[in-house]
Amino acid sequence: MEFKEIVEKNRSYRRFDQSHRLGKTTLLDLVDLARKTPSAGNLQLLRFVVSCSPEINSRIFETLGWAASLPDWPGPEDGERPAGYVVIVTEGDSWDWARVDLGIAAQTILLGAAARGLGGCMLGNVRKEKLKEILNLEESLTIQLVIALGKPVEEVVLEEVSGGESITYYRSEDRVHHVPKRKLADLVIRICD
Ligand SMILES: Cc1cc2nc3c(=O)[nH]c(=O)nc-3n(C[C@H](O)[C@H](O)[C@H](O)COP(=O)(O)O)c2cc1C
Repeated sequence: MEFKEIVEKNRSYRRFDQSHRLGKTTLLDLVDLARKTPSAGNLQLLRFVVSCSPEINSRIFETLGWAASLPDWPGPEDGERPAGYVVIVTEGDSWDWARVDLGIAAQTILLGAAARGLGGCMLGNVRKEKLKEILNLEESLTIQLVIALGKPVEEVVLEEVSGGESITYYRSEDRVHHVPKRKLADLVIRICD
């Protein structure tokens, strides 16, 4: 797959074939990609928890908030839930520039998943204290982001929108998920050539 194709394929997927299990090797391979990404000051403050245990997965699932822009959809039903998770945490207050590292690491994990025919979704809407308990994490750790992973079963399409048009994602009646993206010309505000 061309890099551009991987980026375009790498959408936020929220419905999966739950019977397609993910092994811990796959999850660790994805985290290993994140390990090799840039880090401000090379401080490498991010830590990772991976889960491919159906029992822990179902408990993680209960802490997640899905697709705030689809208020009538409670999230993936049983059978279409993620087969694995990567939870990204930081130690104590070690934050600030690590916020940038977080985005780089999370996107690299999802690009790596897309390159393998998998997919997922970053989730910031997480009951973090509850999840900390479930994962038995030390008090000093802070959960920053959850990445849900699996074999996607939903179709997600990008649409170009201009200036005043809605950028809210939506589902059409055929259950296709539509994601409006602003046009390149609306994002590049100056070209110095
Ligand atoms: C930092 C971050 C946090 C996000 N948190 C959630 C979340 O809690 N729940 C959810 O369903 N989607 C979440 N998303 C996914 C966004 O809704 C999604 O990226 C956006 O709708 C655009 O779709 P796309 O990723 O396919 O381009 C998050 C995305 C990012 C980058």
